[in-house]
Amino acid sequence: MKPYSRQFKRTILIFLILTIGAHVTQIFAQEAIVKDGSYHKKMKWFKDAKLGIFIHWGIYAVNGIDESWSFYNEYLAHEDYLRQIEGFTAAKYEPDYWASLIKKSGARYAVLTAKHHDGFALWDSDFGDLNVTKSPAKHDLIEPFVTALGKKKLKVGLYYSLPDWSYEDYPNFTRNKKRYENDSVRWNNFLNYYHGQLKELNRRYRPDLWWFDGDWEFGDVKWKAAEVRGFLLEENPEAILNSRLRQYGDYATPEQGVPIVRPKKDYWELCMTMNNSWGYQGNDKAYKTPNQIIRIFVDCISMGGNLLLDIGPKADGTIPDEQIHILSELGRWTGKHQEAIFGTRRGLPPGHFNGPTTISSDGQVLYLFLTQKAIHPIVIKGLKNQINRIRIVGDGTKLSHQVVGKMYWSEVPGLLYIDVPEEKQDPEVTVIAIQLKGKIDLYREDGQVIESN
Ligand code: GLC
Repeated sequence: MKPYSRQFKRTILIFLILTIGAHVTQIFAQEAIVKDGSYHKKMKWFKDAKLGIFIHWGIYAVNGIDESWSFYNEYLAHEDYLRQIEGFTAAKYEPDYWASLIKKSGARYAVLTAKHHDGFALWDSDFGDLNVTKSPAKHDLIEPFVTALGKKKLKVGLYYSLPDWSYEDYPNFTRNKKRYENDSVRWNNFLNYYHGQLKELNRRYRPDLWWFDGDWEFGDVKWKAAEVRGFLLEENPEAILNSRLRQYGDYATPEQGVPIVRPKKDYWELCMTMNNSWGYQGNDKAYKTPNQIIRIFVDCISMGGNLLLDIGPKADGTIPDEQIHILSELGRWTGKHQEAIFGTRRGLPPGHFNGPTTISSDGQVLYLFLTQKAIHPIVIKGLKNQINRIRIVGDGTKLSHQVVGKMYWSEVPGLLYIDVPEEKQDPEVTVIAIQLKGKIDLYREDGQVIESN
């Protein structure tokens, strides 16, 4: 057999070095975030918060069109899109009222779009010249928001788009138009600009949470994502970063669709619109009902996640009536059922109960969410614990139960049936608390043959 040529061996060697190198880089990149005790400590308020309100507010509310995407997708010219600035008045902006609505909904934090992909900054930035001072609103809109939230003890999140499709040195302009392909000088101008804005926001407002977006346009090296995480946390070490900063974020952000299977990340948050638009679009009447929203919310917390529910204020700062209505309906429900929501942990794995559940942080109370009216007694399978007491959350009614099919000589638990009187059920979602003797203990086997009684 002919020995391999030196050239060939060299090629193979280089190939191996490159492949292994790429894997090693990836492993390091994935472990860019150390998930030690202090990380979990930092994430605690977020894990317990369950509900946040997302706020898409920008010049796109003037014409009621898609935020940023409408010009990017070339539905209208960039200059026509930017002309909306003239109508962005914020004349009826009442951040204290916003904060009180958010608080009443039961949310524990809110995230405001400081800057969307269109590049229009809601604060008077020292970087770039596309910001609120160019509009009739004139003044910084973020500081009053941060202050109002602080008064209500709500955590503050700032949304910041990495892409800035209006910035003269950003390569992407519209779907079909690029400003340039490769130009390191211009890219560096952009990096200085966007890093400058982030440092400015971090210093001025010290947000509890950074909500990045648009990282898909470039890789982490190009964004200098590691550096961004570094300088933000250096000044503001407790800040939480969402995961749209490539692999440098703290939690996952599924969007619009409720996950069917529990996301693998320790921490996650579903962001979702109330209708089909993030920003204000008067024509979009496709609102989800409060019942649908509550059920989606319960699905999220049942799988250990949060819901970040979006509102889109109008250009004058008022919040559309439909959105106020949803927030207040949500508030009635979260207010009544607080103990089953906040600070709880994800519920039972599939198979035990036909519906969402949560578990108290001490593991001794199991909460069942009845997303449909219960006509027959509800049933729980595979619960080994003895029961202390069963009651309806929010009104205290004690419920009777019955265990069926439990053989005294067998480990396999029986079926636990609970009667829920129809007249005591909540108009949206009824919540049942099962107070257990000791920490929850589940039977997870597939059954066994009985060899001897
Ligand atoms: C998407 C869209 C953006 C929206 C965001 C909210 O990334 O690009 O318009 O603000 O989702 O999650």
